[in-house]
Amino acid sequence: MRAHCQKGKAAAPRINSIELRRYLAEELKKSKRYSSPVDYRNDTDREIAFRQESNFYYLTGCNTPSSYVLAAYQPGTSLDTTPSVELFIPEANLADMMWSVPPVSLAAAQEIHDVTRVDHPPALPAAVAKLMKALPGALFHVLPRASPLFPAIEEEYLQPILAAENQGGAVTDFYLLSALHRARLTKDAHEISLIQKACDISSRAHEVVMRVLGAAVKGGIVAGAGAGVERPLLPGEWLIEKEAEAEAIFVASCRRENAVHQAYLPIVAASTRASTLHYCCNGGNDKEFAWGPVGAHDHQNRNSLSSGRDLKPQVLLIDAGCEWTCYAADITRTMPVGNGGKFTPEAKAIYELVLEMQKACMEILKPGLHWDAAHLLSHRVLVRGFQKLGIFKSPSSPNSGSWASEEAILASGQSTAFYPHGLGHSLGMDVHDVPSASKPAVNTTIAENNKAVELGHTSFYEFLRLRVKLEEGMVVTVEPGIYFSPHLLASVRESALIDHEVLKRYESVGGVRIEDVVHITAEGMENLTKVKSDVEWIEGVCSGAL
Ligand code: GLY
Ligand code: MN
Ligand code: MN
Repeated sequence: MRAHCQKGKAAAPRINSIELRRYLAEELKKSKRYSSPVDYRNDTDREIAFRQESNFYYLTGCNTPSSYVLAAYQPGTSLDTTPSVELFIPEANLADMMWSVPPVSLAAAQEIHDVTRVDHPPALPAAVAKLMKALPGALFHVLPRASPLFPAIEEEYLQPILAAENQGGAVTDFYLLSALHRARLTKDAHEISLIQKACDISSRAHEVVMRVLGAAVKGGIVAGAGAGVERPLLPGEWLIEKEAEAEAIFVASCRRENAVHQAYLPIVAASTRASTLHYCCNGGNDKEFAWGPVGAHDHQNRNSLSSGRDLKPQVLLIDAGCEWTCYAADITRTMPVGNGGKFTPEAKAIYELVLEMQKACMEILKPGLHWDAAHLLSHRVLVRGFQKLGIFKSPSSPNSGSWASEEAILASGQSTAFYPHGLGHSLGMDVHDVPSASKPAVNTTIAENNKAVELGHTSFYEFLRLRVKLEEGMVVTVEPGIYFSPHLLASVRESALIDHEVLKRYESVGGVRIEDVVHITAEGMENLTKVKSDVEWIEGVCSGAL
């Protein structure tokens, strides 16, 4: 959010925003924030990729490690409307310059950042002491000091405040984080443009993977062609035949467009592994696609890839998004692999149902709607769809009755065995953004209604990360899914509500998730995700026809 504090681009740093002031005014008279230091791997001097602490970046737009910001507010004075903002960035160290890019100079930082003053961290204690003298009794708000989730603050910087405690001053780490989280929950136009950019790059990366798959189906990429013993394969020459190859293409496409970080570890799961929700580490993203004979009902397109083997018809689920200047994308596409780049009838039926769940929810999104209601609707559409497919029984099933009605199945909570996670979450600087503001301890739907039937089964909400009413300016993901995970299905193996013979036919689909990023607007929502998801387009690209 550099532009927030770049001179000439925005009038004031984020710390001045009306939105933040609204939340902070009650709680924040003076704040002191500090950014992450560069971390090193284990016991070595090898840097771990630096990513600025989100709250610090939100306030400052400053991407320099080991920096501090000191802001002073005083309600009812000029410091209320124009807080004093002092930024402390490390001095370039000659001994370090041969290893690393040095921090910007003070003069350059003063040019870049619209702050009252820029200095080096050793000047911070004196600045704090000066403020304490000018504002006796002021509260110093800092991020939680005892938490490993936030950078440690040097105790010496707190000494002037502690020394002033007998004049009523105190350090508190209770209010700042919750105020920041509330402010971060809604985004302004500049933040939306950064999320849009992250989504655009990520959308193209998803499409690139699909197009490489499609090119191979069409015979445009031939195993090993171009490479002999003399040279390795060049980008564009290798087939995607395993999860790692798909991941590599996705990440390369983002990096090519200057995205520095992925917003989270990509999840790249083929075949039944798509039922593992966060399949990314400890052996995730690491398997070959499934090989085997193509079934009788499959399309007659080309399937043979390297080694003369046939890819089994399967799905490839990619949940991946890059970050753009500390703002995230979070997009999932599920695509057909093998079978000539077409879904099997079972995978197609599940895919279309997940898409229907997503569309139904998107249609009702608008400010004032409680996210619980959208989540409940996604379960309702799933139950209805499963009844049509015959996986869930219905009152018209043989030997059935009203005990198998849509409401009864919803009330049973058994749809969570297929769809255990939430419909989506707030997205912003972090993928699961601002947890404390997204999921308050007291849920207003429950408080208002106190009726389990209107909420469906309590299990629907166990992993729902957003439990508030939508507000204009929020950015959320809409990501329904349907999975056939042996672990989750264990709980419904004896269920009388399920036709187990029908269920068996769908289990090899593994899992389907479709995830888009949407911006809540005054009228409803705007989809920030450009890569398409309709079956015709996905199959067209993955089969090489489009
Ligand atoms: N990428 C993680 C999630 O969708 O929540
Ligand atoms: Mn998500
Ligand atoms: Mn995701």
